[in-house]
Formats: sequence, structure tokens, C-alpha cells
Amino acid sequence: MIIQPRMRGFICLTAHPDGAAQNVREQIDYVTSNGNIDGPKKVLVIGASTGFGLASRITAAFGSGAATIGVFFEKEPSEGKTASPGWYNTAAFEKFAHEKGLYAKSINGDAFSDEIKQQTIDLIKKDLGQVDQIIYSLASPVRLHPKTGILHRSALKPIGQTYTNKTVDFHTGKVSEVSIAPAEQEDIDNTVVVMGGEDWEMWIDALQAAGVLAEGVTTIAYSYIGPEVTEAVYRKGTIGRAKDNLEASAFTITDKLKPLNGKGYVSVNKALVTQASSAIPVIPLYISLLFKVMKDAGTHEGTIEQIDRLYRERLYTGGEVPVDEKGRIRIDDYEMDPAIQAKVAELWQKADTETLPELGDLKGYSHEFHKLFGFEMGGVDYDKEANEMVAIESIK
Ligand code: NAD
Ligand code: NA
Repeated sequence: MIIQPRMRGFICLTAHPDGAAQNVREQIDYVTSNGNIDGPKKVLVIGASTGFGLASRITAAFGSGAATIGVFFEKEPSEGKTASPGWYNTAAFEKFAHEKGLYAKSINGDAFSDEIKQQTIDLIKKDLGQVDQIIYSLASPVRLHPKTGILHRSALKPIGQTYTNKTVDFHTGKVSEVSIAPAEQEDIDNTVVVMGGEDWEMWIDALQAAGVLAEGVTTIAYSYIGPEVTEAVYRKGTIGRAKDNLEASAFTITDKLKPLNGKGYVSVNKALVTQASSAIPVIPLYISLLFKVMKDAGTHEGTIEQIDRLYRERLYTGGEVPVDEKGRIRIDDYEMDPAIQAKVAELWQKADTETLPELGDLKGYSHEFHKLFGFEMGGVDYDKEANEMVAIESIK
């Protein structure tokens, strides 16, 4: 079928298999061009199909020659209906990995469930014996709790008072004011259950009890801090409480892993255009200004540049892993540079529908958003028939 983007609100209903493959190819080429990393050899990536998780899988496999198992929740294709982008990304990733002789298998299902954890453990036992790194990169609006059977929904709300600020609809470029009413206690609790550290700890407990963690194992989850303008809705809002909880879990996990000399880390990453971040009000306007300022300064990075740097300049330098005063790895350092932030704050005041195309990188935002779904990739003819029925080699 001929596959074009079909937008509904902040999501795109279609994805392009050849564009997704091209996107994965470019990420692989980026990592490969930077040379080898003396890193992990057997890696489990939870949330492996898009965003930071995909970039982690690519960096581990193509930088460090790692065997990878990827867990994710994606929609498979059916005749005349495309798969979700992470499906096509993974199909391409596995194909490229297998061509290079790298082990790569994938599990599609709910990572929050006991069943998928058990399936993953069984696969590790059968094929790899143990893993020496676990990347935890889930972003989900809901979690079905495996012990209580309760379906928890996360919220993106401020805490204490209504938050009013500017936001942009990046499809139309219209800047408007948005007001978000404060969270109820229930919203906070639910968001912590969905995006906090409990499930990460459950994964580590299950893997450790099954004996599939190697001596010296490391596990890394991703967090975000960001600027003052988004603080009320992000870091000091419901999602921020979940991130506080996730960051605390890194210490609990490090304690649990003491017998293996293992370690749990949180890495604070840069704001990037992903499916998850596009759904948060105010963030797209911030990102479009940030990208403009960082591109002008020559410090702009995408997901693959971020994770490549995480491995090369933080995790596998041969020395101590540098962390901040709260024990977190920081690869948001270029974003949080005071000069960058001062410039963004100045532009924030001036940004409106008329000025934003000039002040911000709205085109770049929209382009990155399309790329998430395999669109606007160079070298792909979108007027040509594409085969939507692409299989992931390890999933039959
Ligand atoms: P993403 O939406 O691109 O990726 C989410 C991944 O989780 C996908 O692989 C998806 O299939 C998987 N997933 C979702 N629900 C699942 C489920 N129930 N079972 C199995 N897999 C499931 O998100 P992302 O932006 O890469 O975010 C990953 C992490 O990085 C999050 O913790 C996020 O908060 C953090 N982070 C994001 C940003 C940003 O700007 N995007 C910045 C810093 C940190
Ligand atoms: Na991810």
C-alpha cells in the first residue's frame, strides 16, 4: 500500500516501514562511525522499540557488540493497516543485527505483567544464560498492576495550584495559553504507580531471583529535570513525583545488587521529540525554542547522540561513572547550560504565533515528529507502494 502520515491530534495513525528502517540505519551508522565501546555484552532493554530505549539497544549492539533482548508493546501490522512505528523499528533493527551476526530477539507484550517478565527470564536462560545490563526505558500512560489487578492511569498535572502558560500546537504553529488544574492526591499516586520505580524494582527482583543477572550487572533508567518554565507541570508536577520515586529506586536497586557488585543508575536525559513528550502541554513549545538555541550553539543532540555519549563518556570510560550530588548521571548538561537556558527563557517571553516560526525551530520539531513514524526520511519514496506486512524475525 501507499503509506502517508495520517495525524489525529498528537498522534500519527500510520507508520512507514522503509522510513523506520532508514531511521534505524542512520542511528546504527552514527554509533558505528564513532568506533567500538568496551561495554556490555548481553543486554536486556525494556522499552526497546522507540526513543531512548531503541537508541540504547542500537548503541549496545552496534557499539559494544552486545547480544540484545528487547521488550516492548507495539501493534503488529494487518493487511491494509500499518504496524506501530516501534514494530517496524524493531523489524529493521533485528535484520541489521542478524546481518552482522549479532544475537537479537524481541518480546512484544505488557512489560508490567508477571507473564512477560517470566517469558523474558525463560528466554535469557535458554539463549544467554545471564545479562550484564538492563536498560529500563518504558514510557506508558497506563499500568495494569500485576498484584492488585488495578488499572492505573498517569496524569500530567501541576500540584497545589492551577498552572497557566503558553503552549504550541506544532502541527499548526498556533501558540495559545493553556491552563491545567491541579492534581488530586489520587492523580499523584497513580502517576507514581505507572511511571515510578516499582516496576523497575519488580523486574530486577524477578531477574535476580531467577539467577539471570551477571556479576557486576548494571541497570539504567531514564529521567528528566528540565527548565523553570516547565517545572510546575513537569518536575514539580505529578510526573516529577514519579521521577523522584524512580530516582530513589536506583539506590534501592544498588542495595539489592550488592551481592553481585551490581549497580542501579538513573540517567537524566535531554528533552527530545518522542511520542511521550509530544503529549505533555507546554513541552513542545519549550523544545522548539531549545532546539533552535542548541542548533545555533552547535550543541544539539538527538536520541542516538545522547545515548552514544552516555555509553562512551559516562558508563564505559574505564573510570568512575560521574554523577551529580543526587547520584544521577547527567547527559542533559548541554540542555541545562546556563547560557542556553537564559536564551530560551528570553525567547519564551517573545514567542507567539507570529514570532515562533522565526524564534523557534518549529520545522525541526515537526520533522522530528514525522521521523518517529518513519516519514520525511531522505532516500525513501513515499509515493511508492510499500509492504506494510513486515515481520520481526524473532517474532513469528
Ligand atoms: P517512547 O515512547 O519513545 O518509548 C517507550 C517505550 O516503552 C516503547 O518501546 C514502548 O513500546 C514501550 N512500552 C510502553 N508501554 C509498555 C508496556 N506496557 N509494556 C512494554 N513496553 C511498553 O519514550 P521515550 O521518550 O524514549 O521515554 C523513555 C524514558 O525516557 C521515559 O522514562 C522518559 O520519561 C525518559 N525521558 C524522556 C525524555 C524525552 O524528552 N522524551 C527526556 C528524558 C527522559
Ligand atoms: Na524508549
